[in-house]
Amino acid sequence: MKIITDKKELQAFTKSTTKSIGFVPTMGALHEGHISLIKKARGENEIVIVSIFVNPTQFLAGEDFAKYPKKDEADKKICTLAGVDILFMPDINMIYGSDEVTIKAPNVRGFVLDGFKRPTHFDGVLQIVLKLFNLVRPTNAYFGRKDAQQVILIKQMVENLFLPINIVDCPLIRDLNGLALSSRNAYLSDSEKKEALKISASLQNATKLIVGGNMNIDEIKNVMFATLDGIKIEYIEVVSLELKQLKKVELKNTIILVAVQIGTTRLIDNLWI
Ligand code: PAF
Repeated sequence: MKIITDKKELQAFTKSTTKSIGFVPTMGALHEGHISLIKKARGENEIVIVSIFVNPTQFLAGEDFAKYPKKDEADKKICTLAGVDILFMPDINMIYGSDEVTIKAPNVRGFVLDGFKRPTHFDGVLQIVLKLFNLVRPTNAYFGRKDAQQVILIKQMVENLFLPINIVDCPLIRDLNGLALSSRNAYLSDSEKKEALKISASLQNATKLIVGGNMNIDEIKNVMFATLDGIKIEYIEVVSLELKQLKKVELKNTIILVAVQIGTTRLIDNLWI
C-alpha cells in the first residue's frame, strides 16, 4: 500500500490510470463499518483508494473537531490488511485555502433532520466530498447507510452536478450487542455504552410493529420514545428516501432515523425499510 499526502501526486496517479477506482472517504479511527466498505470496494474495482481527513468544515463551533479520535498507525495497518492500494492522508493546508468557493447543501433536504440540528454540517460534507472526488476521480464511491442523510445528499450532488461517479450505499454495521458502529463510540463509558443499546432496541421494536403489519408512524414513534426512556432524544423521524415526511410506512421507501445524546456524545442510528 502506498501512502500519499500530496494532492498533486494523487492527481498525477488518478489522471494517468485507466483502471476502475473504488473510493472510500473516511475521517479515520477505522472500524468494521469502514472495513466493510473497503472490502466491497476491493471486490468491485481494480484500484482501491481510501482517504483519511478529519474535515473541519463539517463540524460546527463547539463540536468535537479538536478531539475527534485519531488512530493513524492502526488505520494504516487496517488499510494494508484490507488490500487498499493508496491511502491518501492530506494535511489541512493541502485541502483548504483561505478564501474558498463553497458549496451549499440543498435548502430543504440539507436542513432537515441532522441538517436542522447541525445547520451547515452538510455544506461542509459536500464541499470535502466534492474536493476528494475531483482528486480521486473514482468510478465508484462507497458510503455507509449509517449516515443516511449524508449518502442521500451525496447522491443528489452527483446527480445535480453531473459527476460521472457511481455512489454505492452500503449496510450499517453493528457490534454484537446491536450498537451501530461509529468512531464516536470511543467517547462512551461502559455504562453509556449499555445505555446506548436502547437505540438499536428502539429500532428493533419498530421493526416488530412493521413486521406485524402496523405501518402507523405515530404508533411506531411512540414505541421508540418509550424504549428510549431516560435518554435525551434529539429526534425520531420516519421519512422517505427523498427525506420527505411520510404518513404511513412504505416498504422500500422508508427510513426511520433516530438521534440522541448520551452524556456528551451525539449518536445516530437508522433503519431502512
Ligand atoms: O462519513 C464521514 O466519515 C465523513 O462525513 C466524510 C464522508 C468522510 C466526509 O468528511
